[in-house]
Amino acid sequence: MKRILVTGGAGFIGSAFVRYQLRRYPDVHIVVLDKLTYAGNLDNLKEAASDRFTFIRGDVANREDAANAMNGCDAIAHFAAESHVDRSLAGAADFISTNVAGVNVILEEALARGIKRILLVSTDEVYGSIESGAFAEDAPLRPRNPYAASKAAGELFGLAFHASHGSPVLITRGSNTYGPYQYPEKALPLFITNAIDGQPLPIYGDGRNVRDWLFVDDHCSGIDLVLRNGEPGQIYNIADGNEKQNNEVARRLLELMNASPSLIRFVRDRAGHDRRYAIDSSKIRALGWTPATGWEDGMAATVRWYKENEWWWRKIKRGDFREYYDRLYGPLLSE
Ligand code: NAD
Ligand code: DAU
Repeated sequence: MKRILVTGGAGFIGSAFVRYQLRRYPDVHIVVLDKLTYAGNLDNLKEAASDRFTFIRGDVANREDAANAMNGCDAIAHFAAESHVDRSLAGAADFISTNVAGVNVILEEALARGIKRILLVSTDEVYGSIESGAFAEDAPLRPRNPYAASKAAGELFGLAFHASHGSPVLITRGSNTYGPYQYPEKALPLFITNAIDGQPLPIYGDGRNVRDWLFVDDHCSGIDLVLRNGEPGQIYNIADGNEKQNNEVARRLLELMNASPSLIRFVRDRAGHDRRYAIDSSKIRALGWTPATGWEDGMAATVRWYKENEWWWRKIKRGDFREYYDRLYGPLLSE
């Protein structure tokens, strides 16, 4: 693979994937196509600057932008998405435009150019909630929030292109990912940065919802393996098997940060809040993937990163994010 288009490469996981590629493959050239929405940030790509890296600002749902970015590429890792469940509950138009229509544009333009590998980065949320056990890749899709529904729709387009046109589409379904450079709307960076400032950690509902936490570099190594060695038309779950209740996550973070557990505040539950996500990752493990960073090390590294990189998140939290936070959490924290 000589030239890879990484869409959404200015976001959290996409930028980690760019760093991963440039570090691991000395001959690869990476092209990033990113719209720089509220979640896209060129600060995330500072370490990528080199003659093996090209950044293009543009929209994956815009045919010209997509076509221009993929010219000369032999593979696509498609990360670009609206990614936050709470925002999708407030309005899903951007989710449909990017996560559904955008995928279709990528697939059509890739087909026209004969791109050799197209990996769609998807999520364990497409399966919906599971009380016990874990979903394998052939489980039915039962997305239960607009974000998850839009990701499931994008996947179905990918599989349909594979079936109808033989497009070399691969799909990964990753679990909850954490690590440096994650936008502070997501639970972990929100809790860490609030704790640094002595602000409350808002936990939805009873805090007993379970997520399976995966360190960002491990998610990237899984995506890389599937991009290079996966079988077109196939779906691969990616998870560490590191299930935690939200309460447990918040308490451990506060312990690590020497902050008081009294910062925890239980607030009204998220609408339709999925109780538990769990996926079976044997298929990607059989391909040779194993996560390298355990929960305790990953959390410690993440907390350290947010402590040492206030320059990165303070300007985000002062900007548009402030308005978003006050609108969503203001009423919740004052109830
Ligand atoms: P993110 O919100 O941090 O980044 C998304 C990036 O996509 C941003 O840089 C944004 O500017 C860009 N983008 C959005 N709309 C675009 C458009 N129309 N055209 C071009 N660029 C656009 O998201 P993330 O957490 O890094 O997630 C990346 C991918 O991984 C998404 O597809 C998401 O569904 C999936 N995923 C995320 C997680 C997780 O826990 N964060 C887990 C599994 C899968
Ligand atoms: O499972 C993969 C998915 O993980 C990805 O596809 C999504 O892009 C990503 O955002 C993430 O979705 P979640 O909704 O699970 O992540 P979030 O960080 O928003 O929430 C994690 C858990 O914490 C969830 O049970 C909701 C809870 N939560 C979240 C926030 C933001 C709180 O209790 N309080 C909060 O303020």
